[in-house]
Amino acid sequence: DEELPNLAFVWDNASNLSDLFEVGEFQRLYLNFSDPWPKKRTYKRRLTYRGFLQEYRRIMGENAEIFFKTDNRGLFEFSLNEFCADDWKLSNISLDLHNSDYEGNIMTEYEEKFSSRGMPIYRLEARNRK
Ligand SMILES: C[S@@+](CC[C@H](N)C(=O)[O-])C[C@H]1O[C@@H](n2cnc3c(N)ncnc32)[C@H](O)[C@@H]1O
Repeated sequence: DEELPNLAFVWDNASNLSDLFEVGEFQRLYLNFSDPWPKKRTYKRRLTYRGFLQEYRRIMGENAEIFFKTDNRGLFEFSLNEFCADDWKLSNISLDLHNSDYEGNIMTEYEEKFSSRGMPIYRLEARNRK
C-alpha cells in the first residue's frame, strides 16, 4: 500500500472501464492474451474490437497507448485490422516476440504456458493519433 500506492486489483468486465477511471487517469493499457472469442458472431466481445478501442481512447485521452500481445494468430490479424480501422499508429510489431529484438518483456502466466508449447507470441504497440 505504501510502496505501490496506485496499485489496485479489479475483477470486472472491461465494458465497465469508465465506471472505474476518470478521463485521463491512465495513459497505457496492457492487453495480455485476451480471450480470442474465435466464433465469427462473437467478435464484438474481443477486447481489440473497434468499439472497445474507441472507449479506451476516450478514457485515456490523447496520450493513449496500448501494449497488446497474444498467442492467437486469428486474434492478432483481427486486431491489426481493428487498430487500423480506428486509426491507431502501430509500432514494434512482432510475429515472434521471443525471437525478436524486443527487450524487457515480462512473461505472463498464459505466455509461459503457450510459449512452452512452442507457440509464437504476437505483439504490437498502438498509439493514439487523433
Ligand atoms: C487467457 S486469459 C489471460 C490471463 C493473463 N492476462 C495472462 O496473460 O496470463 C484471458 C483473461 O481475460 C479475461 N477477460 C476476457 N474478457 C474480458 C472482459 N471483457 N473484461 C475483463 N476481463 C476479460 C478473462 O477473464 C481471462 O482472465
